[in-house]
Formats: sequence, structure tokens, C-alpha cells
Amino acid sequence: MRIIKLHTIDSTNNYLKEWIRIHEAENFMLVVTDSQTKGRGQMGTHWLSKSGKNLTFSMFVGLEQFSIERQFQLNQAVSLGLLFALKNHLPQVKIKWPNDILADTKKIAGILIENTVSSRKIKHSIIGIGLNVNQTEFPDELSQVTSLKTALNRDFDLDSLLVEIRDSIKKQILLLDILSVDKMQELYLENLYLYKTTSIFFSKDKKMFKGMIDGVANDGRLLIKTPSKKILAFGFKEVRFL
Ligand code: BTN
Repeated sequence: MRIIKLHTIDSTNNYLKEWIRIHEAENFMLVVTDSQTKGRGQMGTHWLSKSGKNLTFSMFVGLEQFSIERQFQLNQAVSLGLLFALKNHLPQVKIKWPNDILADTKKIAGILIENTVSSRKIKHSIIGIGLNVNQTEFPDELSQVTSLKTALNRDFDLDSLLVEIRDSIKKQILLLDILSVDKMQELYLENLYLYKTTSIFFSKDKKMFKGMIDGVANDGRLLIKTPSKKILAFGFKEVRFL
């Protein structure tokens, strides 16, 4: 499987989107770069990463007959693939809903999935991943982040880690055709940060409330059980937790 290595680019997601417009894409091919000038995060945020220290890459996934209704299952497979690869090095990693990866309570990786949809089917997906690997100092505004080196006190070889992660995500995506929705859901919940733990949440209007993550709906909404046993469902960015 092809790996395109670049020194600097605006964003590997942008580059891969443009590349597949011109060339024939190969499933699970990667674009990886030392440094991004316009690394993008979820909801229009920026992804900051020190040049040459971390993994910033995008993967192409071509799909056949993959209904848009299963979009969240694809997200789950990607999160689990990345998580399982990291777990081999750092057992205490968890998925923070919907698809951040935490080491203890700090973010170690982020995922930006961009799907191309036609006739209610996902035709292909560009999966962008930023993983903090060998960076140990972060700007003040990133106080809640960590890296593999911060956690384990040793350097990692970026090339071999990249291949491990690609193979693990590929495996989980191929399992989408084999595993039931319930099984994928079970694996996701087993590895979900704060699952079944009473915690404090903040709603969109900044109201604080107590609750417990009770599950995730098939469309990806987070289900939170309140002390009065009511189940509330939240879409992405409709709820925040620490
Ligand atoms: C997030 O947590 O907000 C998602 C971050 C995703 C960052 C990666 S880095 C490689 C790829 N290219 C981008 O521009 N963004 C993703």
C-alpha cells in the first residue's frame, strides 16, 4: 500500500483529496507529512504539531454500498483501530466520544473524517489523524494534551508506528462487513472514557448537569442518564465534558 511522504504541506487531508481527483486511489494508501501549515481539526479548529516530532497523516478508504446511516460505525472502526494500535504501547488509552483518543485524561490523538457521499452512500472517506508522539513541550493553550513520549519517556520510530496504525485501522474497517453493529458498539463502549461513570457535563447553553454516559445511539449521539433516570441524547458539540 502506497505511502506518500511529504516534508511540508497545508493539510494532508486537503492534499489527499486533491490527489485522488487526479490519480487512481489505492485503498488504505497514506499521505504523511513532517509538518502542516494549515492542519485542520474538527469543527473548523486548527491542529498544531511540532515539525518532525509527531504523526500527521491521512488515509484513503474506498467503500462499496456503505449507507450514510452507518457513518458512525465507520467512525467507531477508525477510533478502535487507532486505539488498539496505541494500546500495544500504552494500555491506559481510551476513546473520548466521539473520536478523540486520551491517555489517562489528556488528548493524545485526534481524528478528522471527511466523507464523500452520493445517493446516501459513502463513496470514500479521507481519514485524517494527528497523533502526538515525540513532542514533549506544548504551547500553553494546549494544556490538556500529551504524547507517547511524555507518557513513556522514550522516543518512537514514526515510520513503524505509522504502519502499525494503518494496519490496525484497516483491520477494523474490514471487520465492519463482518461484525454486527452491536459487537462494534460493545467494543467501542468497553473503551469509552467515562462510560457508566457519574460525571459533570455542560450543555450547549453552558448549563452544568450531573449524569452518566449510558451508551451511544447508532447515529452517534451520546446518551447520558440523569440522576432522575431520564436518558438525554446529544449530538456532536451539544455537550462538553472534562
Ligand atoms: C481533532 O481532534 O480536532 C482532529 C484533528 C485531526 C488532525 C489531522 S493531522 C492530519 C490530518 N490533516 C489535517 O489537516 N487534519 C488531520
